[in-house]
Amino acid sequence: MINIAILGFGVVGSGVADVIAENADSLSQRLCGEKLNVKHILDLRDFPDHPLGDRVTKDFDTILNDEEVLIVVETMGGSHPAYDFSKKALEAGKSVVTSNKEVVATFGAELLAIAREKGVSYLFEASVGGGIPIIRPMWQCLAANKILAVDGILNGTTNYILTKMFAEGWSFEDALSKAQELGYAERNPAADVEGLDTCRKISILASLAYGSAIDPKKVHCEGITEITAADVAAAEEFDYRIKLLGRCADVNGKVYAITAPFLVPTEASIANIDDVYNGISVMGNAVGDVMFYGRGAGALPTASAVMADVLDVIRDCRKTIGWGPENPDIYCDYESAVLRFLVCADKAEDINHVFGVEAIEVRGKFYAITGLGTEKALKEKVASIDGARFIRVME
Ligand code: HSE
Repeated sequence: MINIAILGFGVVGSGVADVIAENADSLSQRLCGEKLNVKHILDLRDFPDHPLGDRVTKDFDTILNDEEVLIVVETMGGSHPAYDFSKKALEAGKSVVTSNKEVVATFGAELLAIAREKGVSYLFEASVGGGIPIIRPMWQCLAANKILAVDGILNGTTNYILTKMFAEGWSFEDALSKAQELGYAERNPAADVEGLDTCRKISILASLAYGSAIDPKKVHCEGITEITAADVAAAEEFDYRIKLLGRCADVNGKVYAITAPFLVPTEASIANIDDVYNGISVMGNAVGDVMFYGRGAGALPTASAVMADVLDVIRDCRKTIGWGPENPDIYCDYESAVLRFLVCADKAEDINHVFGVEAIEVRGKFYAITGLGTEKALKEKVASIDGARFIRVME
């Protein structure tokens, strides 16, 4: 019998318990006959009607001091006390498996170092891409590559909202409330729609790709709250879709990361990733472009990734994964990236005068795709036009 504890019995934590119950036989088969037991569940609430209701405790020390608990599954969300509990569990020699991108993005290097020192595991497959295998493939299967760029639709809620708004004509509010009902959104959905969740996830992927902790606070972050129906219609006129992307890239050995809405060419695979699905394109210098696709949020997809890590701990095959402390010299300015903008202004002649391109009219505004330039130079030009705005274009 292998005993685990679950911290936080919300959407993901209860999904983990459901997967353990539902797949008990196949899990046991993959563990050479060993059985998994959820010995404790930490939550502030009681669950009297749940089959595991008698395992619920409000006292973390019960778990910390129980030597039979080998693995702590942290599905609490938020930084505190999730980080504090994870740290204590690792220091006590327990492995920790988490879906908590906030903790991994912010405290990953420290927790990974403790895990290494203690000879246990800190695993976080579920922290990026929900049920999509992405951490392990990047760490293992793409290990021979220099990672040139990662572009990902990393947030199910915003992708669901954008898809429903654009394809079904739903309002932003209706789409968000449906995403909350389906268990996709964060407790505070501002983290989804303002890009913070994507920002944390791209920090994790950048840290993994480049070996230095990439601080989410140093990742330029924009959400989808400023995107209008006219922007979407204009993008379609130019044969693009608008997607919220997390992007990181190597520029001559330095790294930048950004979270922002981008125009994506309609024929690109990433443009056709809809609803709660996430898609991540990883460009390696040897392998070329590799695409990962699947459900990026929700109880069972996320629990699927959590349980993969639990099994890996038990099989003892992933004691070290991850990255080291932040290298302050690794960063380059995201504004040095060369790209195009979709520019929007009130007068076609202003766009023509500043960018030398013809604009089209969409719902009373004028739009054009600019020529290539650095982000910094293009922004300066946009700023010279009264009331003009821009959205970045993915090449
Ligand atoms: N709120 C997140 C999303 C949950 O919508 O993708 C999964 O990390």
